[in-house]
Amino acid sequence: LHRIGVLTSGGDAPGMNACLRAIVRTAVYHNLEVIGFQHGYRGVLLGEYQVLDARSVANIIQRGGTILGSARCPEMHHAEGVERAAKNLKGLGIDALLVIGGNGSMQGAVSLSEHWSGQIIGLPGTIDNDLGGTDWTIGFFTALDTALDAVDRLRDTADAFDRIFLLEVMGRHAGWIALFTGIGGGAEEILIPEQAYDPETIITRIKEYRARGKKSLVVVVAEGACNGGVQQVAVDIEGHGFETRTCVLGHVQRGGSPVALDRYLATELGVFAVQSLLAGETQMLAGKLGQANQLVPLREALADRNHQPPTHLLKINRFLAT
Ligand code: F6P
Repeated sequence: LHRIGVLTSGGDAPGMNACLRAIVRTAVYHNLEVIGFQHGYRGVLLGEYQVLDARSVANIIQRGGTILGSARCPEMHHAEGVERAAKNLKGLGIDALLVIGGNGSMQGAVSLSEHWSGQIIGLPGTIDNDLGGTDWTIGFFTALDTALDAVDRLRDTADAFDRIFLLEVMGRHAGWIALFTGIGGGAEEILIPEQAYDPETIITRIKEYRARGKKSLVVVVAEGACNGGVQQVAVDIEGHGFETRTCVLGHVQRGGSPVALDRYLATELGVFAVQSLLAGETQMLAGKLGQANQLVPLREALADRNHQPPTHLLKINRFLAT
């Protein structure tokens, strides 16, 4: 092992930079050369990269985004693109590639491994926390704090006006952010893609809350909770005569300085991934299981449908939110 490549791909996540720093510093410590590809797989395809040394990752542990840039790369869905990526990696003399990203990025890594003989290890970087093979993904904890701050602020104004507020948080396919934000923020209702949306139930509960004297209500809605998204939920509630206000938090959740847990996760997994390469591992996801670092085959991580959010939280919220 002499020269390794690294890239950040898909939706950026706070802590990606902390992970890059850990990777580069660990690699340099072991006398490895590091090539950082720009904008994910696109940088591999276009030959856009920079050599990263210990100094080039100085002062980034606290910065959101990714100094390498990121992208979603449609070319990686086709054999032609994947073959070109493999050819370019060979041409650059890259022995191993580290990919920081979510499901799409890990799928790209698996495709690449079918055309390229170098070692590949993935690291979980996405605010969605929806990747198998790890308990937590880098960026999730920071996104949660951002969303939680929004809930707290909305509660203030909701209370002042006795209003119903709908907050849409990210998560097209996964309810992790909505669930944890809702529980942490004391939301009355939490709507997630993993649970069928039933407007009648929501209306009944709103009536019950109001009958019990509860005036301000906060409903946290995951992006993918229902067809039509948060706007549909607003229409359904207003249709029953309840005034609502809607806030779509959007990409605010993707930015910002990573919280301590994201920096910790990013740093430990970054070191672990380089050590795993040195131990000869390949086609693995470097993830966290409890306190332990663990390697799970990338294919298994992608197939792991068990990484569902703990929906029992919805049940306990029924009495917490009374
Ligand atoms: O996967 C991360 C994520 O932020 C999702 O929560 C969201 O649905 C999606 O990316 C948004 O994608 P884009 O940044 O391409 O609009």
